[in-house]
Amino acid sequence: MSPKPSPKDKFTFGLWTIGWAAQDPFGAATRAPIDAVDALRKLSELGAYGMTFHDDDLFPFGASEGERRKAVDALKKGLDETGMTIPMITTNTFTHPVFKDGGVTSNDRAVRRFTVRKVLRNLDLAAEIGATTFVMWGGREGAEYDFSKDVRIALERYREAANIFGQYVLDQGYDIRFAIEPKPNEPRGDILLPTVGHALAFIGSLDHPELVGLNPEVGHEQMAGLNFTAGIAQALFHGKLFHIDLNGQRGIKYDQDLVFGHGDLHSAFSLVDLLENGGPGGVPAYEGPRHFDYKPSRTEDSEGVWASAAANMRMYLLLKERAAAFRADPEVQEAIVATRQGELAQPTLGTGESIKDLLADTSSFEDFDPEVYYNGKGFGFVRLQQLASEHLMGAR
Ligand code: GCO
Ligand code: MN
Ligand code: MN
Repeated sequence: MSPKPSPKDKFTFGLWTIGWAAQDPFGAATRAPIDAVDALRKLSELGAYGMTFHDDDLFPFGASEGERRKAVDALKKGLDETGMTIPMITTNTFTHPVFKDGGVTSNDRAVRRFTVRKVLRNLDLAAEIGATTFVMWGGREGAEYDFSKDVRIALERYREAANIFGQYVLDQGYDIRFAIEPKPNEPRGDILLPTVGHALAFIGSLDHPELVGLNPEVGHEQMAGLNFTAGIAQALFHGKLFHIDLNGQRGIKYDQDLVFGHGDLHSAFSLVDLLENGGPGGVPAYEGPRHFDYKPSRTEDSEGVWASAAANMRMYLLLKERAAAFRADPEVQEAIVATRQGELAQPTLGTGESIKDLLADTSSFEDFDPEVYYNGKGFGFVRLQQLASEHLMGAR
């Protein structure tokens, strides 16, 4: 059993992932930087479909127009040569000291105006390069202290910025949609739009909510102790899963950005099952890129970097195989029926039944016996979870 990644699997990697030189707050870089076109070639060899980047991953902050052009043209040449794609790009509004209090929500208005200009310029680049998804990760949009700013006013500025970006895309006629990436903390003590749910509520308040969806990241929801698969299901429920960042996280701690599946493996399994088999009639529930936003551990040399890139894709494909076997197993199918999930799909009121009819239905209340749920009427969820675990372990 050796699943081999191919472009049809739509695996993509951030240039900042395999390109991370492994500096952290406690130590210097342990690896040399990687050239963008070399990275593209290497990812293509490994079977990836595309690459993504921040503006500043491709050319340094403050680069001249000439330097930018050189980097963009070299990348375009690399794309032609390899057949790779750039389905998503994003803007770095967090590294430079100017962003120390955030970009679009900094208390400093000049910083906000500069940030908006940086993002608009990057939208032009997205259009040029053919990226149709534009991720907005506001890692510096937040605070350490409650008295730093009124969160309601900061959100007003966040909304103003998102509305400007949406209007710009409409004015320019760009085929671009935005994907907000929530994160609870790190680098800020508390980040605005900390979870999928917060971001969904924010999107509903925008001028053009149809242009804006989510880019949830496995580890970010798990840093907040939340269930990632359930968050993705809710994003799908609202039609807002525009992109996804896959990686691994082991519990509530700093953002680990491990290889996908190297954290909570049960959660990774249910996630792949949802993405691949969760659509109507068992088709994929999400068609977009399977994007890895991980960090090759600081202990790894360049060989280890590429081994870890391959590991992400292999973990996904192995989980996809295991999920298919799980769904095809007759005992699993019978166990699913036993949980009465089919009944959950039935509306609680009958067709044409009114609230008055419900009130008149004595079988629903007066004659209903709740006591039979004591010592009886179990749902069999544990049996199903054990079957899932056995498939995950390759024991069935
Ligand atoms: C993180 C985030 C970032 C963003 C990326 C896109 O780990 O905190 O994943 O890596 O995804 O910067 O802007
Ligand atoms: Mn992360
Ligand atoms: Mn991410």
